[in-house]
Amino acid sequence: MTNVKADPSNTHHWKKLTELHDKHQSQSIVQLNDLAANSGQCIDAAGLSVDLSRNFVNQAILDELVALAKTQGISEKISQLIAGEAVNNTEARAAHHSALRLPDSIQTRPEVSATQQKIKTLADSLRNKTWRGSGNTEITDVINIGIGGSDLGPRMVCNALSSLASEGPRVHFVANIDPRDLETTLQGLKPASTLILISSKSFNTTETLENALSARRWLLEEIEQSDLSKHVIAVSSNVEKAVAFGVDADNILPMWDWVGGRYSLWSAIGLPIAIAIGYSGFNELLKGAHAMDKHFATAPTESNLPCLLALLEIWYVNFCAAHSSAVLPYSHELGLFPDYLQQLTMESNGKQVHKDGSHVTHRTCPTIWGSAGTIGQHSFHQLLHQGTELIPVDFILPLHSHSDEQNKQAHLVANCLAQSKALTEGKNEAAAELELADSGLSESEVSALASHKASPGNRPNTIIAMDKLTPSNLGALVALYEHKVYAASVVWDINAFDQWGVELGKQLSTPIYAALTGDSSASTDKTTAFWIKRFTQS
Ligand code: F6P
Repeated sequence: MTNVKADPSNTHHWKKLTELHDKHQSQSIVQLNDLAANSGQCIDAAGLSVDLSRNFVNQAILDELVALAKTQGISEKISQLIAGEAVNNTEARAAHHSALRLPDSIQTRPEVSATQQKIKTLADSLRNKTWRGSGNTEITDVINIGIGGSDLGPRMVCNALSSLASEGPRVHFVANIDPRDLETTLQGLKPASTLILISSKSFNTTETLENALSARRWLLEEIEQSDLSKHVIAVSSNVEKAVAFGVDADNILPMWDWVGGRYSLWSAIGLPIAIAIGYSGFNELLKGAHAMDKHFATAPTESNLPCLLALLEIWYVNFCAAHSSAVLPYSHELGLFPDYLQQLTMESNGKQVHKDGSHVTHRTCPTIWGSAGTIGQHSFHQLLHQGTELIPVDFILPLHSHSDEQNKQAHLVANCLAQSKALTEGKNEAAAELELADSGLSESEVSALASHKASPGNRPNTIIAMDKLTPSNLGALVALYEHKVYAASVVWDINAFDQWGVELGKQLSTPIYAALTGDSSASTDKTTAFWIKRFTQS
């Protein structure tokens, strides 16, 4: 695929958006946002309702952003993604994760259906206890060993859908090369009742291979080598390497180079999900994502949710000087969603060159961060309300809980709505003064405290709600953000599907590791040499 540079900052829409920002910057969100009046406040798709009415935009700004996306060829680029064209130009690959969630009746890649059958068979046999370990022992624990996309997605989903996990074995996740990660996970587990799942697209990732070696050593402390195949399975696109590692060929589930690591939870990398909640739950997750794919592929840009979220991000980053963006799930079970989104968004769009390799002249991906509400309210929300940075917020809000405690759920929802309102409207000094005076303070005390108690408001935020955190709604939510990331990359004209930046650190760690473990021949810089000496001599 040839890449003709499409620098958005050279378009007249960019200039117009700069003018619109200048024109409206002194207005408040409440004054500016006319979407509710135009009934464009809430857009529903695939079980999600997205409320845009607390963003610092009006219809004219949104229209201009949409026009920018159209100039950047958004519709054609969406079609290319969904059709499985090689949108990842530096690796000449498709990013065809949407094919993983096509219903069987319209599946164009037979290898996907075949692998789904294998996922089902394996998950079923572990859940109905027909898969037995050494000595005919029941498998009670499965440990997924993987990192990045081979960890964060399935870990987040298993956590989010833990209310549906019954019957099957417990599923654990180990990612860190820090030896304590695996060691603490193994505490209390027994080799005969444990299955190790090595998840690595490349089967080349040091953290995963080192942890897999340690886990295998632990298994062999109690079981015979001949029984190892009852305890080790793998998911990889590098079947040869997995076999060379010692995994039984029948125990390897494939994946493919047209699935990016951070987009892979829908593939066999999602096996831990099917083991934890059953294959039908996993299938519901796929269905929800497919519903969002259909929306992304067919909805006009004006009402296309992933496109609108991407355009809002571009508006805040490129025109309103936002450097970061917070995602706040008001659901304890979605506590890992910000971590998951960090890889999805920042590994995808943390780029500084256009698709043709020339340097961008505008900013790209913001820092993504956040944690579950209400916990964050008693921690970093202070900065969101009164700090000097503009930090747009996405609230993720399942309206109803899997718990019967409706009162507490009402508290949770009330807190989310209150945070959204407080960020938007704030409290001016006059209101703060009145409140202080009403509490009986003297005039001088009131004037000393009023500015401390005032909140500026005008902090843009979006509420992304769903009825309940079901597999289908979660699938739609994840696909919404996957496509948001792609839509933003299209407008910025960057490649969302490579990650060359992570390679340098990997390269540099090899000689440092050699030096730390006794190879004195490696030459290095002064700082590194200092720390190598401290490590080897202490
Ligand atoms: O850290 C870079 C990365 O390549 C991620 O993109 C990927 O998800 C992760 O490492 C793990 O890779 P693999 O599945 O090949 O072990």
